[in-house]
Amino acid sequence: MLGFLRSTILSKIVMAVSGAALVGFLIAHLTGNLLVFAGPEKINAYGQGLRDLGPLLWVLRIGLLVAVALHIISSIFLADKNRTARPVSYSKKKSIQSTIASRTMLFSGITILTFVAYHLLHYTYGIVQPEFYHGEYMLHDGRTVHDIYSMMIHGFTNPFITVSYVLAVTFVCMHLNHAIASAFQTLGFNHPKYNAKIKMFGVGLSAILWVGYLSIPAGIMAGVVKLIEGAH
Ligand code: HEM
Repeated sequence: MLGFLRSTILSKIVMAVSGAALVGFLIAHLTGNLLVFAGPEKINAYGQGLRDLGPLLWVLRIGLLVAVALHIISSIFLADKNRTARPVSYSKKKSIQSTIASRTMLFSGITILTFVAYHLLHYTYGIVQPEFYHGEYMLHDGRTVHDIYSMMIHGFTNPFITVSYVLAVTFVCMHLNHAIASAFQTLGFNHPKYNAKIKMFGVGLSAILWVGYLSIPAGIMAGVVKLIEGAH
């Protein structure tokens, strides 16, 4: 497997395909999270629906982990190749630019990983705000489920947590914006005719995700999404 990744073009393909899978996750995760605007019944039923997937949820989680691992491994190989095998013919300017770009990607990538670890400790394991993790909600069908709705509200009424999410989501979207442009370029899909469209697609998708994710803390801070009487 590692030998397979050592080939530059295959590393680029693995990086692009794993990156596309991660973008798919970001879109799906945002779509689910936006249910917070539809109220506790909808988002809590959605959270329970995910848990009810049982073993399939674990298949999806393992798929996500594999995508993250392949993305990191291929990025390490490509960064290494970039450093050791840069053609002498590269102009100095281009070389400096691509080094800055890859350093920025490395920095935003590490920041995103750190955020995901923190995020899992927050919402999945309840270690960041344990006092709000055990809330329960009774669905209309009588089932008592985990109260994600109130947990999100408690999270985003804490200024430290809100600022850290705003920064992290901004890093995710900056990383994605650069990644889309460079994925098309390194895979050889760059053509003067399409470059502007590719750039627009990258900026557009990153901007939609940025606005979408940040609409959640914004909606909570503005009081559009608020705690329901009697909930925890
Ligand atoms: C406003 C921003 C976000 C909110 C409100 C949010 C909310 C949540 C919640 C409530 C859960 C737990 C679901 C449950 O246990 O039922 C969760 C899980 C998760 N989130 Fe987020 N999220 C946000 C942004 C992100 C971003 C930007 C990423 C990735 C970079 C991300 C990655 C994950 C992952 C990997 C999980 C674990 C999924 C699992 O294995 O079940 N989230 N998120």
